Amino acid sequence: MLGRTQSSNPSGAQTWGLAVRSRLCTMAGMSEFILTRTEDHVGVCTLNRPEVLNALSVELMDQLVAALEKFDADPNIHVMVLTGSEKVFAAGADIGDMAEASVVEMMERNNLARWLRIKAVRKPIIAAVSGYALGGGCELAMHCDIIIASESAKFGQPEINIGVMPGAGGTQRLTRAIGKFKAMEVILNGRFLSAQEAFEAGLVTRVVAKEQFLTEAMRLAHQIAQRPPIALKLAKEAVLKADEMSLSEGLEYERKLFYSLFATEDQKEGMRAFLEKRKAVYKGK
Ligand code: CAA
Repeated sequence: MLGRTQSSNPSGAQTWGLAVRSRLCTMAGMSEFILTRTEDHVGVCTLNRPEVLNALSVELMDQLVAALEKFDADPNIHVMVLTGSEKVFAAGADIGDMAEASVVEMMERNNLARWLRIKAVRKPIIAAVSGYALGGGCELAMHCDIIIASESAKFGQPEINIGVMPGAGGTQRLTRAIGKFKAMEVILNGRFLSAQEAFEAGLVTRVVAKEQFLTEAMRLAHQIAQRPPIALKLAKEAVLKADEMSLSEGLEYERKLFYSLFATEDQKEGMRAFLEKRKAVYKGK
């Protein structure tokens, strides 16, 4: 990976104004479809294909997976933020890439493997969404753990309008997030949900003014990044199991993860600090 100091964002994607270390990384010899930078313990990935509304090409997805996995493996990073620009989060899979593809070509691309790698990221990911989050863009936001939306955000699964259906988890994750009857309208009729509707339906964590969406996501990320890192990962893992396990299996799973945290230094530090009425200093051990 190459790295250089970033003072302004060449893509026009929204930048973060705090005086903190900011790095722009790019895959050697490739277009910069994903910009990355770090601020303290927060890693930020910005989707950067503005000419096609951040359409999720295979190359973009490869870069995104690599960037997320790099942050996931970096002990200095505790939380990630995934964002686009104020105008668009992502308008879905790249239709130009798919229009003339055969079944075999689609299968050979093995996009599912990329989505599974995003699902496997263990640290919390906050999606900061403004503008369109459609098709694979909505599915990408739903792979994150918290969604902060600007008031201009629009969520939808409009694949039905181009002769297909969601293919990266939309029928499952949207249904779990907002329920069958709302999901059916969004998926069967290609209707977009406004940020407020998405919030009321349970898809979005918080709606903020469009000037604030990234600031708010970063504020939250910095707060969460202060928490004990191992407990963060295990708590994320346990919450995600709620979608896949029965209640009794999930409770059993949670209990085992809970007990396992008593093997960490951070558990001792957190509880001792509480009793000693001081701020805990976590080491991620
Ligand atoms: N793939 C490729 N190119 C796209 C794109 C996509 N998903 N979405 C937008 N673009 C391109 C447009 O073709 C256009 O390119 P040109 O300037 O070269 O013509 C450029 O981005 C700007 O787009 P528009 O002119 O259409 O912008 P708009 O503001 O008028 O409309 C929009 C915005 C409503 C988001 C519209 O672009 C749109 O409907 N996009 C497609 C949304 C969609 O169907 N997404 C689902 C894709 S399939 C999928 O995601 C499958 C899956 O589950 C993984």
